[in-house]
Amino acid sequence: MAWAIGPCLPAWVVLMGLALTGRLSWTAAVVACALVFVLMAVLVFTRLADFDRIIRYAEDLLVNPETPPPSLYTSATAQRLLSGLMALRKLWNERRDDADALAQSRQDILDSLPDPFFLLDKRRRIVSANAAARTLFDLGRNATGLMGRDLAGVIRDPKVLEAADFALAQNRKAEAQFTLPAPVEHTFGALIVPLAITARDGTTLIVALHDQTERLKMDRMRADFVANASHELRTPLASVLGFIETLQGPAKDDADARMQFLDIMLKQANRMTRLIDDLLSLSRIELHEHTRPTGAVDLELVLRNTVELLDRQIKERRTNLSLVVPTNLPTALGDANELGQVFYNLVSNAVKYGGAQGRVDVTAEITASRPPSMPGRGPCLKISVRDYGEGIAREHIPRLTERFYRVDNARSRELGGTGLGLAIVKHITNRHRGALIIDSDMGKGATFTVYLPIMPEAKAA
Ligand SMILES: Nc1ncnc2c1ncn2[C@@H]1O[C@H](COP(=O)(O)OP(=O)(O)OP(=O)(O)O)[C@@H](O)[C@H]1O
Ligand SMILES: [Mg+2]
Repeated sequence: MAWAIGPCLPAWVVLMGLALTGRLSWTAAVVACALVFVLMAVLVFTRLADFDRIIRYAEDLLVNPETPPPSLYTSATAQRLLSGLMALRKLWNERRDDADALAQSRQDILDSLPDPFFLLDKRRRIVSANAAARTLFDLGRNATGLMGRDLAGVIRDPKVLEAADFALAQNRKAEAQFTLPAPVEHTFGALIVPLAITARDGTTLIVALHDQTERLKMDRMRADFVANASHELRTPLASVLGFIETLQGPAKDDADARMQFLDIMLKQANRMTRLIDDLLSLSRIELHEHTRPTGAVDLELVLRNTVELLDRQIKERRTNLSLVVPTNLPTALGDANELGQVFYNLVSNAVKYGGAQGRVDVTAEITASRPPSMPGRGPCLKISVRDYGEGIAREHIPRLTERFYRVDNARSRELGGTGLGLAIVKHITNRHRGALIIDSDMGKGATFTVYLPIMPEAKAA
C-alpha cells in the first residue's frame, strides 16, 4: 500500500488546499483523493508487475536459454529492458553455439589424428580420448563412461603411469614404452606432455601414443640382416683362409691336395660372389620397389630363356621339365630382366629341391580370379612352377621369403644356396604389383605361383 501512497501525496495536498480555501467541497475533495489513489495503485501495480516478470524471465533464462519472453502490460521502460534482455539472450546463444562448434572442431581434429591421444586432468583422470585411442582400447564410439576414470583403468603399464605422475609433479614432459599383448602384440611409445596452462575443461596433460612395432621390427630385421650377411660371408671366407694356411703349411708340396683344395676354394669364392651379387640385386630392387615397371614382357620368351639358362642343372639332376604356355597368352606389364630372375629362382629351386630325376611343371595362363594379396581387379597372368619333391612343412611357408631363411640350412648351403632367392622373387613381384602364392603338401611337392598384371591393350598395341 505504501508504494501507492507516495506518488499520490502531491495531488492530495493540492486537493486539500482547494477544500480548505472553500474552492472545492470537502466531499468532492475526498472523492477526488480516493480516485487519485485508485489510479496510482493501478498504474504502479502494472509497472511493478512488468518488472517482476522481467526479473523472473532473467532467472529462468539462466536455467533454460530457450525460455519464451513474457508479455508485458504497458511500460515503455520495461519494454526496453525486456528488448535489451532478449538481445543479450541472442548474443549469449550465439556465443554458446560458437563454443559448442569450437569444442566439436577440437574433438574432430583430435579424432582425425592417426595416433591415439588421451587428455588428462591434474589427478591423472581422463578428460577426453580421440577416435584412435577409443578404437585401440575398444572403448566404444564416444567413451563417455571413460571420462573421469584414472588412466590406470586403460593403460595398466606402471612405466606409463609413473611417467604421467612424473610429468604432473615436475611439469616436464616424460616418455615411456609399453606393450599391448592382444589381439596382436604391439609396442607403443607414450609421450606425456604437460600443458603450460590448465585448460577450461581441466586438461593438464596430453598423452600421445605412437605405434613403434614396425620401427622396432625394422631395426631388428636390419640387425639380423647384418648378422646373417656377415655370417654367410664368414663361413666360406673361413674355409678359404683355412685352405690357404694348409697349402702354405702341411700340404705345401702335395700336388693332389693343392688341386683339390684350389677347387674347393674356387667354389667358396664363387659362393661369396653369388652372395654379394644377390645382396646387391636385392637392395637394387628394394630401392625401386615403389616405381612400377612399365615394359611389355613376352612371358613365353622369358620362360624359355630361363629353362635354357638352367639347362646344365636340369641335365645334371636329370629333371623331367615341361613348359606349357598357350599361344595367345597376353603380354605382361613389367620388366623382362627382373621377371627372368623370378622364374630362374623358382625353376632352379624346383630342380634343386624337387629331387633327382624329379618332375617339374611350368605353366602359364590367364586367370579371372586374382589372389586377395594382389592389388587391382580383373584378369591377370598366372605362372606356376610345380615340383613333386619333399615339399615344405606348413610352418615354414610364411617365412620362406625372408632373407636367408632356409628350411634346412645345411642342405641349402650344400646345394650352393644363399637363402636370398625367394626374397628376391617376393620383392620383384611386389614391385610388379603382382603376388606370390606358395602351396605345398609334405611329401607331395611344392607349387610356387606368380600372378602378374597384363599389359593394357592400348599400350601393347
Ligand atoms: N621347391 C622347393 N621345395 C622345397 N623347398 C624349397 C623349394 N623352394 C625353396 N625351398 C626352401 O626355401 C628355402 C629358401 O629358398 P631360396 O630360394 O630363398 O634360397 P636357397 O634356394 O636356399 O638359396 P638361393 O638364394 O641360391 O636360391 C630353401 O633353402 C628351401 O629350404
Ligand atoms: Mg633358391
